[in-house]
Amino acid sequence: MPETTESPVELVRAIVAAHRGERGVLLPILHDIQNRFGYIDPDLVPALAHELNMSRADVHGVITFYTDFRSEPGGAATVRICRAEACQSVGAEKLVADAEQVFGVKAGQTTPDGSVTLQQVFCLGNCALGPAAQVNGRMYGRVDRGRLIELLANEGDA
Ligand code: FES
Repeated sequence: MPETTESPVELVRAIVAAHRGERGVLLPILHDIQNRFGYIDPDLVPALAHELNMSRADVHGVITFYTDFRSEPGGAATVRICRAEACQSVGAEKLVADAEQVFGVKAGQTTPDGSVTLQQVFCLGNCALGPAAQVNGRMYGRVDRGRLIELLANEGDA
């Protein structure tokens, strides 16, 4: 993250200003904020709501509705495992359970050492190659416990 003298609230105002006049700006703004900070700090919600003339509850509701957004810093690696129907039929539930055991956290949590955030998602668009998973945005198919461990080890080498 590049150094800047702007405060987080000033940066949020600048991001909102960059989208001024567009329709349906909340989602792109939230993506921009998360890309900038790695997560959407709940402390930024009041400024965001004020800038967009929305209620805090509405902004918070959108952030919590979409699994893409997170309200706390993520781990060094993000593992997203598909739990939708096609992947379920070929072992996604077991993969999620294995991942929770391997990392020692539940889906939606980050390991205490900050190395991995584990997330469950509902369809990654890789349905023919389930169980599907994404590691730091890269898509993988036919993932099992052993492959998941291998993928994480390779991420550490990258
Ligand atoms: S159902 Fe898993 S990628 Fe679509």
